[in-house]
Amino acid sequence: MTTQNTEQLYKDNVLGNYGLPPITFTRGRGVRVWDDADKEYFDFCSGIAVLTLGHCHPRLVSAIQSQAGELIHVSNLYRNEKQAQLAAKLNDKAGGGGKVFFCNSGAEANEALIKLSRLYGKAKSGAEAKQFKVIVAEQAFHGRTFGGMSATPQEKIQGGFRPLVPGFEVAPLNDLQAFADKVDEETSAIFVETIQGEGGVNPCSIEFLQGLRKLCDDEGILLLIDEVQCGAGRSGTFFAFEKAGIRPDAIGMAKGLGGGVPIGAVWMDDKHASLFHAGSHGTTFGGTPLICAAALETISVIENEKLLANVSENGAYFMEQLEALKAEYPDYVLDVRGQGYMLGIQIAEAPFEIVVKMRDAGLVVPPAGGNVIRFLPPLIATKADIDAALEIVNSVIAARVAELSAVV
Ligand SMILES: Cc1ncc(COP(=O)(O)O)c(C=O)c1O
Repeated sequence: MTTQNTEQLYKDNVLGNYGLPPITFTRGRGVRVWDDADKEYFDFCSGIAVLTLGHCHPRLVSAIQSQAGELIHVSNLYRNEKQAQLAAKLNDKAGGGGKVFFCNSGAEANEALIKLSRLYGKAKSGAEAKQFKVIVAEQAFHGRTFGGMSATPQEKIQGGFRPLVPGFEVAPLNDLQAFADKVDEETSAIFVETIQGEGGVNPCSIEFLQGLRKLCDDEGILLLIDEVQCGAGRSGTFFAFEKAGIRPDAIGMAKGLGGGVPIGAVWMDDKHASLFHAGSHGTTFGGTPLICAAALETISVIENEKLLANVSENGAYFMEQLEALKAEYPDYVLDVRGQGYMLGIQIAEAPFEIVVKMRDAGLVVPPAGGNVIRFLPPLIATKADIDAALEIVNSVIAARVAELSAVV
């Protein structure tokens, strides 16, 4: 099928809720992806932090193929082995002593976290809607469902969909006092991303995370952490919050956890897991054998191929090189942020044109809020892959800076 056919089929049939460029991707291998004109790109978007192992990792392909030939789906009316094994694995990664709920996306994982905060508030205060408020961070992004959207204090996300779910309060990220000031007798939880992705690659500081943990303990409220984008190894540790030496009461996961298949998961500690009982929450597709087999294999490859060490080491190198770029063009590259393979540069203009120029030059990267260009390579990306991507980043930015100074 040609791009023209695909373009027409999209125009005629696919809802226009994405601003799509005129590109159709047809195949991928490792860190590379090709369009239907056989143009090759470095994929440093990874399906927005999804392709943990890059495109079509042979072990992931084989695990999916083999599970598909065995058992694809049975519903949550019955047990399946792969769900049990994946739950045990994630419980272990979270430090044990908890339970896991499976769903299909980041937004759904966050819905479950928000529902947990309601059950917790009711159990604690003895009445529904007495202790139900959740404090979220400015620039947060928690998804597009009504709960997720209501927890996402951005006009571009919420506009047109009001009235929203009540009870979300907003405080500036990394401002512990501002969060503390918002807590009152109606508060049930604090809910943050360890590293904000869509909001512009804004990491929580270690002190902030530790402070939130203490604040939640002191106030008897839940600390809910959204690791949908920064989790599954992307920051160089399996969960990004590990670097602060804290453990949240519950964790939202999705994206990279399945290496490319649709998955969402929530871990919560046993104390709070008992708030859910049979019939209190559910979803048809969560935790199918097929998806859990893919996630188990993704985690196994992360462990066997020592991808966390790869991400930590080469992520630090990548960051250094981006800092050098900032030093060279301080009026254009205003900031460099992130951890591991979740990095961003804040530039002096809207990022969209530069993202297109990088793509034309063979590097796929996603923009983010606050004039940020994100770099989200697959966890398998090597130093050589990063150097190749940096060559494109450097030349596109050098050309843009030259263009802007010619205008002045
Ligand atoms: C931190 C975070 N939470 C939640 C979501 C929503 O995930 P999904 O698009 O899978 O619903 C995203 C998606 O970008 C995200 O980055």
